[in-house]
Amino acid sequence: MQDDLKKQAAEAAIPYVKNSRIIGVGTGSTVNHFIDLLAPIKHRFEGAVSSSEASTERLQALGIPVFDLNTVGTLDIYVDGADEINSNLELIKGGGGALTREKIIAAASRLFVCIADQSKLVSRLGAFPLPIEVIPMARSYVAREIIALGGHPVWRENFITDNGNVILDIQRLDILEPIKLESTLNNISGVVTVGLFANRSADTVLLASEQGIQTLNL
Ligand code: A5P
Repeated sequence: MQDDLKKQAAEAAIPYVKNSRIIGVGTGSTVNHFIDLLAPIKHRFEGAVSSSEASTERLQALGIPVFDLNTVGTLDIYVDGADEINSNLELIKGGGGALTREKIIAAASRLFVCIADQSKLVSRLGAFPLPIEVIPMARSYVAREIIALGGHPVWRENFITDNGNVILDIQRLDILEPIKLESTLNNISGVVTVGLFANRSADTVLLASEQGIQTLNL
């Protein structure tokens, strides 16, 4: 059922890509539906920039060319899922560990369309543990700094990101000021990326529920 809603959210994103030459593509189970829906219309665009090895593999298996972001300039559109979304369209992302490339593509895109089922909408961010990508040698140091900030970091063991780094999932954070917290965590030496997308939030959220698609705009 939840998977049906994810697919409906992905379908709702298709009209948004219609004049795009190259499409920024996120990562996760909702985006997997989006990738599958791009396959039948692949003649309408040149290809994609991908946020993970997993999405790259799926795109290429469907015959959609994947470009290096460095070769394509600013993207018209980026489509991706989220783990939590608030009413300001600020997000927690990185449940799948792809947050760094996701954040780069979001920053390099004019329009960020987030697709999700309604379970992702929350009144306050933080019930979902906040992922941060960390340089391996800094793991313990960063964990101590997070504890000092009142968080409870948990090392995502046996997981290495596409960039060769580790993930700390911060539990028990009540995120009252997402923009401020994103900057504070970004400033810890050894932190590569914080899974809070508040400084660059989504522009549009397509939220699927039993009642249909709700479009949230900034
Ligand atoms: C990947 O690192 C994440 O940011 C995903 O976008 C997020 O976890 C949403 O995934 P689902 O679409 O699988 O819920």
